[in-house]
Amino acid sequence: MQNNEIKIGFVTVSDRASRGEYEDLGGPAMQEWIGKALANPWTAVATVIEDEQALIESTLKDMVDNQGCSLILTTGGTGPAKRDVTPEATETVCDKILDGFAEQMRAVSLQYVPTAILSRQIAGTRGSCLIINLPGKPSAIAECLEAVFPAVPYCIDLIE
Ligand code: MTE
Repeated sequence: MQNNEIKIGFVTVSDRASRGEYEDLGGPAMQEWIGKALANPWTAVATVIEDEQALIESTLKDMVDNQGCSLILTTGGTGPAKRDVTPEATETVCDKILDGFAEQMRAVSLQYVPTAILSRQIAGTRGSCLIINLPGKPSAIAECLEAVFPAVPYCIDLIE
């Protein structure tokens, strides 16, 4: 990845956090993790939204098409509950799905918790942006990012 400043989108998908019923811990956890891992300069575009598929899709499209994000991390909404639709929204807006990211995140996560199998998280590209779904728990965010981040800068280079 070149040393230009990149924009990174952080999307917390949570009905309760978006209504202010509890504090968004996922968004800050993602930003803190990236701050430690990424040497390149970056700026954040962050938002907290409800588990509504159309809203997730329009948020992702806006971050890529209008705001020029090179990377978007989402947190939450990847499980089997009725309101969990983050993977569906991500799949709809992506041009290409990168199955290896999800395979690796679940494989590594299963070493921590057996319930990791419940996450339907995916990753893919839209234009020159890589979008990665992460589960909602801050510990899961770190576990999943550790599992795939070594491939992220190169992926961004390839899709530029
Ligand atoms: N992955 C890791 N690494 N650590 C975890 O604690 N929790 C799982 C799974 N993946 C977990 C994990 C659980 S309990 C659920 S329900 C799913 O992620 C979906 O979480 P989400 O709906 O918050 O996205």
